[in-house]
Amino acid sequence: MIWTTSAPANIALIKYMGKDKDNIPLNSSLSYTLNNYRTTVSLEIAKEDYFVNSENLSQFAIERFLKHLNYIRQLFNCKEKFKIQSTNNFIHSAGIASSASSFAALTLCGCKAICDILQKPLPSLDEMSQISRKGSGSSCRSFFAPWAIWTKKSVQAINLPILHHELITVDDGIKPVTSSDAHELVKTSYLFKDRINRAEKRLENLIKALNELNWQQCYQICWEEFWDMHALFETSSPHFGYFSAKTIQVLRNIENLWKENNDGPIVTIDAGANIHLFWKNTNHGKNIHNIIN
Ligand code: PMV
Repeated sequence: MIWTTSAPANIALIKYMGKDKDNIPLNSSLSYTLNNYRTTVSLEIAKEDYFVNSENLSQFAIERFLKHLNYIRQLFNCKEKFKIQSTNNFIHSAGIASSASSFAALTLCGCKAICDILQKPLPSLDEMSQISRKGSGSSCRSFFAPWAIWTKKSVQAINLPILHHELITVDDGIKPVTSSDAHELVKTSYLFKDRINRAEKRLENLIKALNELNWQQCYQICWEEFWDMHALFETSSPHFGYFSAKTIQVLRNIENLWKENNDGPIVTIDAGANIHLFWKNTNHGKNIHNIIN
C-alpha cells in the first residue's frame, strides 16, 4: 500500500529566526502560504526505512527527514518501516522554504499512513502542525492558509487580505548555510539583543497596516524585516550571507518602481538569494519586466 500527500511551502513576512529547544521560536512570525509551491511525499511499507533521493538532497537533509519519520512512528508506537519518496515542484534549499513544505508533507503522510495501519483516528490539523514543528519550525505554518501566525504558544490561521505572490529566481544554487545553522549563528550578532522586540513590534504594525490596506506601510515594514534578518546573518560570528549581485540589482529596481509610481510590490527574501513579491492585484504585467531587467 502507498500513501501520498502533498503540502505547500510558506514564506514569512515577519521572520522566525532564533529558536529554543524543540523549535520553539524566540519571536512570533507571520507567513503567507504558497499553494503553488508544494512537496509531495509518498510512503510505502518496506523492510527498512530508506529514502529515494531523486532530488539530490544532502545527507544532512535526508537524516533530518528520517529522524522526523522516526519521531512520528514513536509517537504512535508503530513498528512499520517505510520506503520514502519526496519531490518538490520547485527548487529546494535555495531559500524558497522547501523544508516547510517537505516536513509538512512528511508529517501529513506519516500520520495518515500510521493511523491507517494502526486503525487510529487522524490527529487534528493543530496537532499535526505541532508534530511538524519538531521536524522543521517553519513547517507548522504550512498547515494554515492563506495567512498563518505563529507565536511561542500556538500557530493558527489569521484573516488578512489575499495577496498575489510572485517569485523572482536569481540563483538556484544550494544555500551556503542551512537555516538550522543560521538559527544558532544569529545569536552571536550584536544586533540580536533587541531582535525579539523589533520583530514583535513589526508584527503588530504589519497586521494593522494590512487590515487598513496601508500598502506603502506594508512594503516599508516587510523591507525592514528581511533586511533585519539578513543584517543578523552578516554580523554573526562567523558572518555569512545569501544575496547575489542580481539580488541587489532587483531590489534597486523595486525601489525605483516605488519612487516613480508611489506604488509597487511588497518584497521579502528568505534565507536565500531569491526574491518574493506580493502584489495587491494581478494587473502588474509591465512592472515585472522593469524589475527583472
Ligand atoms: O524551519 P527552519 O528551521 O528551516 O527555519 C527557517 C526560517 C526562515 O525560513 C529563514 C524564516 C521563516 O520564518 O520562515
